[in-house]
Amino acid sequence: MDAKLAKDLNKQINNELFASYLYLSMSAWFEDQNWPGFAHWMRLQAKEELDHAMKIFDYLNDRGVAVILDGIAAPKTTWDSPLEAFKDALDHEKQVTKNFLDLMDLAISLKDHASQIFLQWFVTEQVEEEKSTGDVVAMLEKIRGSVGAVFQLDRQLGKREDD
Ligand SMILES: [Fe+2]
Ligand SMILES: [Fe+2]
Repeated sequence: MDAKLAKDLNKQINNELFASYLYLSMSAWFEDQNWPGFAHWMRLQAKEELDHAMKIFDYLNDRGVAVILDGIAAPKTTWDSPLEAFKDALDHEKQVTKNFLDLMDLAISLKDHASQIFLQWFVTEQVEEEKSTGDVVAMLEKIRGSVGAVFQLDRQLGKREDD
């Protein structure tokens, strides 16, 4: 595999692990703030991001590329409101989408077809990730100021199933 693509895919393992750490930090904050549904949703999100990191980990190993793990940056630990936390999550997802589009552009320019097929799954996944996080942001914006409605949303997100 091309050296730059190998380096950028290694970097993406780190980005996914950071995302996992960020969402786990949000889950901890939601627990502390007594929002069990939001905490549950973020905890599952953290698990998904770990799965994403492992998908890239396995792909690099399959291609005979050395996986080099780097340090994971410390995530934020507090937010002003559930809305602020979900907005941060959406911003992060948008950044990750950009990372994958850049990776895809590189794989295309290198004519690395296997990597293009591998990255396709992530490009599709990011549409889903931005939608699910964006939907929560939109709902929290709509019910801003209504504690009762936020409680109801918390209960609803608490029903998210492990997939
Ligand atoms: Fe991810
Ligand atoms: Fe994500």
